[in-house]
Amino acid sequence: MIKMFWTGLLCFGFLALCAAAPNKRAVIDAAGCGMRPLLSDNGASEMTATQARIVGGIEAVPYTWPSICSFMTDTGYHICGSTLVKNKAGVFYLVTAAHCVSQRRASRYLARCGMHGMATANPDSVLLTFSDMVLHPQYSDMTFENDIAIFTLVNQPNTNDFVQPACIADQPYYGGEGSIVAGWGTLSYGGEMASTLKQVYKPIKPDATCAIRYPGEFEPANMMCAGEPEGGVDACQGDSGGPLYTYRNGKWYLTGVVSWGYGCAAPRNPGVYADVYNLRTWIDTIIN
Ligand code: ARG
Repeated sequence: MIKMFWTGLLCFGFLALCAAAPNKRAVIDAAGCGMRPLLSDNGASEMTATQARIVGGIEAVPYTWPSICSFMTDTGYHICGSTLVKNKAGVFYLVTAAHCVSQRRASRYLARCGMHGMATANPDSVLLTFSDMVLHPQYSDMTFENDIAIFTLVNQPNTNDFVQPACIADQPYYGGEGSIVAGWGTLSYGGEMASTLKQVYKPIKPDATCAIRYPGEFEPANMMCAGEPEGGVDACQGDSGGPLYTYRNGKWYLTGVVSWGYGCAAPRNPGVYADVYNLRTWIDTIIN
């Protein structure tokens, strides 16, 4: 608190100096991302394995993941999940998986943020339209390496309790770190889509475990995996592109982007995610 105050003072007095100060971003982020305002504890209590149960998940408390958005065709058909983030200057972007994108033009897509039920309109939700999109230049639709895409918004959304950015991972995960995956995807492999937002707690696996599970397919340089050895908890079809969140120092970070897996929630087949921290250098070249 004191530190923030001092930094604030410093910034006020010496704007130029402040801009060069290395802690400036941390201070902006502290107030600026990763919050879940409708939950009194910011959702911290959801980071316990006890609620471990998209496949095997629970319904999210309505509207408590303000950074998740449905990524849709221009006709409003849900394709994938996606996550709102913002750059250092406070400009919003939308992150999804590259494999969710098949059209050539950004204007062929829409996203809706601030929603819970797929069919119920929240008056505070916002519809995003896009002026530009960038798929990772090393994305491969054969191997699903670097499965990430960034969309530039036509209009900046008004933020409210229902619509807010996630922080972008600025530290690597560790094997065993907890995470929460959220989405409207199917409740089982080949099953029905969820009508309301679901979430599930999953531990992130060490890269060595992911490599054993998916020999020759898991690429630690740009992927991560998460799940329980016995399965039962996972993302599934329709969750792709959506967030895997980790809770660090009181804020929710976008750490993974739902990418692929063998089936869903099968034993010894963890879900695989684009590794946001390892892709962050590229992300920064696009948004910052
Ligand atoms: N590829 C799927 C999609 O397009 C989701 C993959 C996630 N699968 C998993 N088992 N975690 O929605």
